[in-house]
Amino acid sequence: MTTSSPRTWMTTEILDQAKQILSGMSLEEKVGQMTQYDWGYNPINPETGVSQRDLLVEEIRQGRVGSIFNLAGAEQANELQKLIQENTVSRIPLLIGRDVIHGYKTVFPIPLAQASAWNPDLARRTAEAASRESMADGVAWVFAPMIDISRDPRWGRIAESIGEDPLLTGEYAKAWVEGSQIDDGAGQATASCPKHYAAYGLAEAGRDYNTVDLSDRVLREVILPPFREAVDAGALSIMASFNEVNGIPACANEYLLKTILREEWGFEGIVASDYNALQELITHGVAGSEEEACERSILAGCDMDMHSGFYMRHLPKLVREGRVPESAVDESVLRILAVKIKLGLFEQPYVTVPTEEAAAEARASFIELAREAARESIVLLRNEGKTLPLSKQGASVAVIGPLADNRKDPLGCWAFDGNPEEVVSLLEGIRQAAGAASVHYAEGCSMESDSEEGFEAALEAARQADVVVLALGEALEMSGESRSRTSLGLPGAQRKLVEAVAALGKPVTAVLLSGRPLALPWLQEKADAIVQAWHLGVQSGHAIADVLFGDYNPGGRLPVTFPHNVGQVPIYYYRKKTGRPPGGVYSSYYIDSTTEPLFPFGYGLSYTQFEYSDITADRTSIAADGKLTVSVTVTNIGERVGEEVVQVYLRDEVASVTQPLKKLIGFSKVSIGPNESAALTFKVGMQQLAIIDQHMKLIVEPGDFTLWIGPNSSEGQSITVKVV
Ligand code: BGC
Repeated sequence: MTTSSPRTWMTTEILDQAKQILSGMSLEEKVGQMTQYDWGYNPINPETGVSQRDLLVEEIRQGRVGSIFNLAGAEQANELQKLIQENTVSRIPLLIGRDVIHGYKTVFPIPLAQASAWNPDLARRTAEAASRESMADGVAWVFAPMIDISRDPRWGRIAESIGEDPLLTGEYAKAWVEGSQIDDGAGQATASCPKHYAAYGLAEAGRDYNTVDLSDRVLREVILPPFREAVDAGALSIMASFNEVNGIPACANEYLLKTILREEWGFEGIVASDYNALQELITHGVAGSEEEACERSILAGCDMDMHSGFYMRHLPKLVREGRVPESAVDESVLRILAVKIKLGLFEQPYVTVPTEEAAAEARASFIELAREAARESIVLLRNEGKTLPLSKQGASVAVIGPLADNRKDPLGCWAFDGNPEEVVSLLEGIRQAAGAASVHYAEGCSMESDSEEGFEAALEAARQADVVVLALGEALEMSGESRSRTSLGLPGAQRKLVEAVAALGKPVTAVLLSGRPLALPWLQEKADAIVQAWHLGVQSGHAIADVLFGDYNPGGRLPVTFPHNVGQVPIYYYRKKTGRPPGGVYSSYYIDSTTEPLFPFGYGLSYTQFEYSDITADRTSIAADGKLTVSVTVTNIGERVGEEVVQVYLRDEVASVTQPLKKLIGFSKVSIGPNESAALTFKVGMQQLAIIDQHMKLIVEPGDFTLWIGPNSSEGQSITVKVV
């Protein structure tokens, strides 16, 4: 839990200006500001022949819309802004939004991949690049970052997340908010929208939109810390989630939106609902009518209605009838106006399109960044007998699998502004990197079909080669929103393809391009090397080839636990002890599976090895408000320079409420040359030691604390310190 206070961006000047504008607005205009529509939703009414967009344009002309999203293109954005400037009295510019999740035109690795870099600063840079590109297309509001703690790989939206850990997600949340909220100094700026507030990632059974049930303790210990980081970093808005929390869907949940967000955290920005979430209050069965849904949302503190149109249809009447005080509307509108003022939209409602030259220059640097980000996102999971890196000196390579000659799927989910033509496929990347090595390609099988027709060609390619690279995994449509799976295996005939190729006895490297952790314990037997490459964006092929041929030494670490099988899910390192001691029939275990993960949180290999030594604390006992420093020496005992992610975990041995077996309290990524050492120190104080007690108060309790420093959540050397 953070104890810092939020960054105040709403200055007296901004607030005064917002109040001034508000004082001249009619009730309809005010509610218009609280209304947002999807520009991309454009059915034609069969009876009237009128399109939804025509109706929307008319609403905009009348000043009855505060925000739209899914519009891309500076020209169109400027036309709509002009409509407002020329036809309305208040001339309040539109806030134009978009899901800019991992890049815009330049598609970067999916967030779960970027999280594998354990490098929040990298995410800050990709987020900034994405905002620069989308801003040039008229987008001033990016619906990112997605910071839902995700412990269930069945849930397709795990791809959009930073994984399972509150600290790692919090560090990324902060960097992502700072990176995506840019100001070009010439009148244009962007706002971020951390989402989905809150606990959307805990959908039961990993089925998207399913019921969420969690304790206030889990909410506050696990789910909220990243949102708090985002708020403290100055996020100008936040998106309320679809799911219920303690029986009340988020956009009608006063405890979430008022008590925690406004009162405890001092959040000043806009709370937007998720898509049609007001309508969903009716489907959830907590509102009997559109009017009631409106009333519940506004009174709970939801400022903006995404797409349902309920606010516009009912709120003016509800205010006139006295069911909703106008002051509630005013508060929401003030916040929306304040964000628009902060972004400079009143001074500069129109988008300035960069010159072609400037755009090309920026693009080139973004593509370079895409390769850097993609390389850092790759996790080496297995490397028996130093199968990798591959030699460029003449050994021939067979490249096989449905994700090899494939430019579409590496884009990943939520990449609708990306262009598959710009993606470097793995085959292309390998061909360019292979040097003197010859490359033989065969698809082997398609992504999802069970047909084995292509196997013979694949075996032939493998026979001609010295080593085999298998490109396996998931299509981009298999992760993201509404893409839950009950199986975590390879779809279609891919497993059979692996088995057939492996039977030839050549060294096999499996490259997994997926939007989620896959449960493939059997692959350990079949592949000498395994590379988790996720969906890496436009530079996918180059980045993977850089790793395969050793031009880049992989340093990624898993931001999420990999299970052996679906039955273990949810499996995550931040788990409680249970009352059962290990061992014996009545301990907490499965009769048909291990309870251990396939790969633990924080895991990843390198082409070099690191040794940990000299773990010490500068004092072994401190007062509850004291601080200590733990230090460690990490030595690169291999032959090449490499990056290690040094991780610090803590356990409160005896506390008044149950505690996780381990919790990540710090990490540091360092690059160390061969035979060199790095000395690292980590501060441990109240922020790391505090627990939430039975009265939900943050306190440090006396007693023993174990600290581990190591390469992942399952390994490491420990020391004990005492709080007195
Ligand atoms: C998703 C949000 C997204 C919104 C707008 C919803 O279905 O849950 O993440 O921002 O649509 O596209």
